[in-house]
Amino acid sequence: MSIENKVVLITGASSGLGEATARHLAERGAKLTLAARRQDKLETIADELRAKGTEVEVVQTDVTDRQQVQAMVDRTVDRFERMDVIINNAGLMAIAPLDETKVDEWDKMIDINIKGVLYGIASALPVFRKQQSGHFINLSSVAGIKVSAPGGTVYSGTKYAVRAITDGLRAEVGEHIRTTSIEPGAVESELKYGTSHDQSAKAVEKLYEQAIPADSVARAIAYAIEQPTDVDINEIVLRPTSQEF
Ligand SMILES: NC(=O)c1ccc[n+]([C@@H]2O[C@H](COP(=O)([O-])OP(=O)(O)OC[C@H]3O[C@@H](n4cnc5c(N)ncnc54)[C@H](OP(=O)(O)O)[C@@H]3O)[C@@H](O)[C@H]2O)c1
Repeated sequence: MSIENKVVLITGASSGLGEATARHLAERGAKLTLAARRQDKLETIADELRAKGTEVEVVQTDVTDRQQVQAMVDRTVDRFERMDVIINNAGLMAIAPLDETKVDEWDKMIDINIKGVLYGIASALPVFRKQQSGHFINLSSVAGIKVSAPGGTVYSGTKYAVRAITDGLRAEVGEHIRTTSIEPGAVESELKYGTSHDQSAKAVEKLYEQAIPADSVARAIAYAIEQPTDVDINEIVLRPTSQEF
């Protein structure tokens, strides 16, 4: 029932929810692998956490690259000799109406938000099977429950996919492996800067005026991890009290 000494790999740990989760789990005694593309940011966070006694591995990773995701999991298992939790958190929210045909941004969201999560599953599942234990925590969203259109259609598509994949995974993995889909509303992070469409950026900025701190998601993730091994928290939805969507 403890987080202490659990080995947790977090993708997208260089900012926002991933960074807040790393800090929160470090305080609770977890050992961490931090992954993202911006290595300098990861090293700064890792140095701070190491100074407080946390064991931290940093692996520069682009989650759209299957080999890099495999290397990220391999490095974690090499260093800590096991992996208890993978948090597939890296994500991009590029809001724009479909009429804008921002196909490059659709591709990026599909590659990061869906394929990145699947690559994480492909690399971690054999480790969890061998250990006969493990926990997948995937970041979906309230946009994985409801579509905000025009603008959020493709982002929602990716987050519905994460929710569907997480539930299918739950049904397939059997009794020794846990799966959690985290579905937040507006949370303070760099996510709101993901679109290149000015009008949508303004609408997102407005929605995010009510955003709650990233630590609120970190605490929800910790709650899922700290349950006894036979208790699987499958979905957590959390939003600012003021948010309608
Ligand atoms: N904030 C919210 O309101 C909210 C609500 C619901 C769901 N979520 C979900 O929460 C997750 C985290 O987002 P956030 O809000 O914390 O946003 P964020 O501050 O923008 O963080 C996104 C993280 O993903 C990483 N990332 C992006 N592309 C990547 C790639 N190709 N490979 C590896 N890492 C990549 C970024 O790091 P690098 O740039 O260094 O690679 C960054 O660390 C996302 O999946 C998001 O959809 C957020």
